[in-house]
Formats: sequence, structure tokens, C-alpha cells
Amino acid sequence: MASERGVLMLILLALFCTIKSSHASTGGIAIYWGQNNGDGTLTSTCDTGNFEIVLLAFLNDFGCGRTPSWNFAGHCGDWSPCTKLQPEIQHCQNKGIKVFLSLGGAFGSYSLCSPQDAKEVANYLFQNFLSGQFGPLGSVTLNGIDLDIEGGGSNLYWDDLVKELDVLRRENQYFYLSAAPQCFMPDYYLDKAIKTGLLDYLFVQFYNNPPCQYSPGNTALLFNSWNTWTSYVLPNNTVFLGLPAGPDAAPSGGYIPPNVLINEVLPYVKQASNYGGVMLWDRFRDVQNRYSDQIKAYVPKDALRFVTAVSDAIYEGVSEALRHILPNY
Ligand SMILES: *[C@@H]1O[C@H](CO)[C@@H](O)[C@H](O)[C@H]1NC(C)=O
Repeated sequence: MASERGVLMLILLALFCTIKSSHASTGGIAIYWGQNNGDGTLTSTCDTGNFEIVLLAFLNDFGCGRTPSWNFAGHCGDWSPCTKLQPEIQHCQNKGIKVFLSLGGAFGSYSLCSPQDAKEVANYLFQNFLSGQFGPLGSVTLNGIDLDIEGGGSNLYWDDLVKELDVLRRENQYFYLSAAPQCFMPDYYLDKAIKTGLLDYLFVQFYNNPPCQYSPGNTALLFNSWNTWTSYVLPNNTVFLGLPAGPDAAPSGGYIPPNVLINEVLPYVKQASNYGGVMLWDRFRDVQNRYSDQIKAYVPKDALRFVTAVSDAIYEGVSEALRHILPNY
């Protein structure tokens, strides 16, 4: 009896590991870095241990034949080559943190002119940021590309860009694709890209959007929008709750004080099977408010409780089966 229990425990342990690893994300924090010198260095951001994903913001000039260029505030640019970020990016990656390049943002000159243009931009991104060849950030292999498309005039061909990048990640080493739509649906710029189903992560901006964000004492609009989003996308498209890291990070609102997030909001949003965690805009405000420090412990799903419930059910089932095979069990 004792040894049979032992064997059972081993089977269950193997099952637990399978269950655990089949869930890509149990909840982490993604953060945008690069729009203010007050962000601190990329290395110091990763050394907090608070983040699962760091998004370099932004490559904000590209497409329609433009020479691609980026705006990383004073971190690097005209007077300081961005290749100095190479060791910092690698430092983050060595800690298991995923580093993405984010395209777009609120300012800049970007758009795509045709499906062929989308393909050319995809190839440019792959060669310069995803292949390990020498590019503007040095010889790096970033972990993903993020689309924070909120301007540029045209909403065309972003789905083509996603499809072309998907072709490249299938032919080469896998990299992630993400987008940061506004919570108000459908997102003017990104809806078609989202409908491809190819985006691993959606960093939905539940701020600066009064119809679908938190306001003091009122979680209803936020929860309603969260439910719509998590059921709108495919089950394998993970949704992050995108939030401002401080009240001044979102002039049109949506800031949620840490205690409200921890006690009221996270317990609710975590119930979605494709909950991925919290996205923060941006590291500069996070440094000032220590927002990620305060919420970090509460962001992961309570995976243990889920696994224990499942394992109890499996144990009952296997015990029942063994009782039939082994009369003395
Ligand atoms: C999600 O699953 C669908 C198949 O149902 C697949 O076509 C798609 O590539 C997957 N998306 C991601 C991001 O893995």
C-alpha cells in the first residue's frame, strides 16, 4: 500500500510539472522603458527582479520608405549610440527577462503603405533586432516585437506585418509578438492584427479611456471591458491588465491605487484563464511611485491552489482505478 502510494505520488508529481509548464504565463509584470531618463538604466530596471518583460520604447519612424529611427529619450540616440544597450539587454536576458522592441507610440512618423512594405519592415526588424546580426542595438537577439500603434494616420497593413513576422519566427528561432491596444473596442489601429490570433501577448491599455477604465470606487467598466477582451481573443493569446504606474502617467485617468488593485481588481481579473499579468506604463513613473514593488507579490496566479485541486481530483480517479485492478488496495 505504502509503495503504491509512492508510485502514485510520482505520477502526480510528473502531472504537476506538465500542468505547470503547459501554462506559459502564471502572471508577471511587463513594463515600458525608454521614454524618460528618470527610467534609470535598463540594467537597474532588470535588477529590481520585478519584471517578466521589458519593452524598449519606441522605434517610432518607419514604413513607407522612411529610414527607421527610434526615440529612447536621452538613454541613447544621436549623441550616444544605442549599441551601448547591447550588454544591458544581454544582462536582462541572462536573468530570464524577455526584452521586446516596441514599435509606434504616441509620437513619431510611422505607417505602412502596402503588404509588400509590411514584408520589408518585417525583414528589417528581423535582420536588425531578432537575428543576432549587428544592428542599431548592437548584436542582439531580442525576444519579441510589440506593436503600440496609436497614430500615424493609417490603420492598414498591421495585420500583414504580424503575419510576415510570424513567417519569419517559424522559419527561424521563435520570438514573441505583442500589441498594446486601447481598451475601447474595436481598436482602430490594431483590431485586424489582433484577429490574426498570432499575438502571444495583449497589453491592453485600461487607461486614458474613460468608457473602459477604473475610476475611484467603480470597477464595473473595467471588469466589463476585461471580460470582453479575454473572451474576444484566442485562448492562447495572453491578456495583460495595462495600467498607469502613477496618476500622472495617464492624464485621462485609469490609475488604480495599489491597495485597490491588490484587494479588488487582481482577484477578479485572475479568474480569466488567459490572464497574463499586469503591464505598466511606464518605468519612469514606476521609479517615482514604487508601484511594481508594491504589487509584485500579488500579480502571479495562485497556481498552487489550482494544481492542488486538480491533483486531488486525479488522485481520487487513479485510486479508484487501482482499487479495481488491485483488490487489496
Ligand atoms: C494560437 O492558436 C492558433 C490555433 O488555434 C494558432 O493558429 C496560433 O498561431 C496560436 N497563436 C499563438 C500566439 O501561438
